[in-house]
Amino acid sequence: MALTIRPMVPADVAEAERITRIAFGTFFGVPDPTKFRGDGEAVSGRHHANPHGAFVGELDGRPVASGMVMDWGSVAVLGPLAVDPGHWGKGIAHRMMTPMVDYLDQRDFDFTGLFTHPQSSSHIRLYEQFGFWMRRITGVMMKPVQASTASPGYTLFSDLDDAGYENALAECGTLAGGLHPGLDLSREIRTVTELGLGDTLMLRRDGAPAGFAICHHGAGSEASSARLLVKFGMVKNDEGGNALFKSLLASCEALAARRGAPEIAAGANSERTAAYRLMQEAGFRTTMNGVIMMRADQPGYNRANSLVIDDWR
Ligand SMILES: CC(C)(COP(=O)(O)OP(=O)(O)OC[C@H]1O[C@@H](n2cnc3c(N)ncnc32)[C@H](O)[C@@H]1OP(=O)(O)O)[C@@H](O)C(=O)NCCC(=O)NCCS
Repeated sequence: MALTIRPMVPADVAEAERITRIAFGTFFGVPDPTKFRGDGEAVSGRHHANPHGAFVGELDGRPVASGMVMDWGSVAVLGPLAVDPGHWGKGIAHRMMTPMVDYLDQRDFDFTGLFTHPQSSSHIRLYEQFGFWMRRITGVMMKPVQASTASPGYTLFSDLDDAGYENALAECGTLAGGLHPGLDLSREIRTVTELGLGDTLMLRRDGAPAGFAICHHGAGSEASSARLLVKFGMVKNDEGGNALFKSLLASCEALAARRGAPEIAAGANSERTAAYRLMQEAGFRTTMNGVIMMRADQPGYNRANSLVIDDWR
């Protein structure tokens, strides 16, 4: 078996997307795996955001595997990793992990997180062999969007001029750095803007930045047209943090209503106790559980009082 693994180039993206779609569709038992994720896409935006962390595996010259790493400054998120179902069980995922982990080592991230399927001992074994350790469950939560949702007053990045946009990006950097030193979501925010994958909203309190949420929605986004996905959201966890977090959830729902998305998806890691409970109280219900694995074994920013939304899928 002549497997070669090389960096993903733009010409690979469509085939990597197809492999990822059918791999997950097959894993989840979707009758037609090519329809998995609807008009959403998992590879194109991530390749745009961080081409250095994207790899393709080729078997005798034909792409059979795709692997991505998201660069969030001092933090990396690994995934999705996908192998063409016709080639499962040949050791291809293990081979793909080697350059991906080399990339992580070269970049010296504080930690790398990933979301995987706790019911699959094979998935867990794969990642354990590369230094990842199981932590807590992340619930992928959904909520039907209320058509009447009132706007609680947020700023959308799509409404900002160039100077305002750069300023808001810097403000998000400061907020994220307060959660974990060096955490930087700017690649994700710019990608949403540049590819038209949704919008980012900013909350202010007494005029000062207090929280933000990067929201995917529409064809080509990680969410699809069927829902709005909060890829990452956070508020400051000071005295008024819980009220702010409720406002962030309400703002995301208002944005979903404004865009015509029928439901909203948002991830709640169970180590983030306060945020998890506040999401339940706001009417979010878990539709899928995944387990978080970390390299090195540590909580990262998943602390009891971290008012954060993400699922790392
Ligand atoms: C998960 C996934 C990436 C694994 O890909 P894969 O190439 O089949 O994985 P591997 O072949 O490397 O490993 C699978 C098994 O084959 C074994 N194996 C390794 N080398 C082998 C070889 N040369 N020949 C045969 N089997 C081999 C592995 O030891 C492993 O066994 P285990 O399950 O008992 O631990 C693939 O199933 C997939 O795309 N699934 C859908 C998407 C998904 O779930 N992605 C991961 C999300 S976190």
